[in-house]
Amino acid sequence: MPAPSIRHALVIGASRGLGLVLAEELARREWHVIATTRQSGGALQVSADTSDGRLTVENLEMTSPEQLAALRGRLDGRRVDLLFVNAAIDRGDVPIGEVPTGMFTDVMITNALSPLRALETLRDLVVPGGTVAVMSSEQGSITRNTEGGYELYKASKAALNQLMRSYATRHGDDGRTKLLIDPGHNKTALGGPDAPLVPEESIPLVVDVLEDQAGAPGLRFLDRYGDVVPW
Ligand SMILES: NC(=O)c1ccc[n+]([C@@H]2O[C@H](COP(=O)([O-])OP(=O)(O)OC[C@H]3O[C@@H](n4cnc5c(N)ncnc54)[C@H](OP(=O)(O)O)[C@@H]3O)[C@@H](O)[C@H]2O)c1
Repeated sequence: MPAPSIRHALVIGASRGLGLVLAEELARREWHVIATTRQSGGALQVSADTSDGRLTVENLEMTSPEQLAALRGRLDGRRVDLLFVNAAIDRGDVPIGEVPTGMFTDVMITNALSPLRALETLRDLVVPGGTVAVMSSEQGSITRNTEGGYELYKASKAALNQLMRSYATRHGDDGRTKLLIDPGHNKTALGGPDAPLVPEESIPLVVDVLEDQAGAPGLRFLDRYGDVVPW
């Protein structure tokens, strides 16, 4: 029987939290992973050092178009089966009327504009039939916004989802799988200490979804069980 071919992934925003565990889980499943951080050293580098070459680290400030272009240049000639943009920020539960303009633009630039810029800059690294995915959130679902709170973060994830739909329309004939993923509420710096889940239990389910969806073209907004999240 021929050996299964090695799968390659590029994960944007993997210094800690869900992104770090995602990079580690893919490497644990024998994927070869390039993962980005904006630090030198840190937990991602420690994981890379013990990964037997399956995990390598690149530096990226995702909001910088220049750094995105430089990363694309460094990866010239490489091909990935999965491009996954994980990075995002939250600035707390401030009612929208009290959100300073700078806070609004920071969150929107990081959570909505930059992931799409990353996809546009890096998409040609993805093999035909490969997957482009972004970490979204149930919080970005307009249908499920019935409890109030975290208005700016929710708006940024709804904007991300809308931009991803535009991306999927614009690149509708590229044959690639396009996913928005809701990982569930996890204990991280962003998710807070009272979240019911930890990345070590959520991310293997997310990777199951990524592996199950591979090769199925079109855009889907899915939770960690592979169930559809309503727009
Ligand atoms: N935790 C949850 O409950 C939850 C639920 C639903 C969705 N999500 C989504 O899951 C993803 C990961 O969240 P998390 O909970 O793991 O958050 P986290 O622990 O705060 O980690 C956020 C990650 O994004 C990176 N990042 C932020 N801004 C960046 C930038 N401008 N350039 C490059 N990297 C940047 C951070 O890097 P630094 O270390 O350099 O800051 C870090 O690696 C996010 O998209 C989030 O919206 C989380």
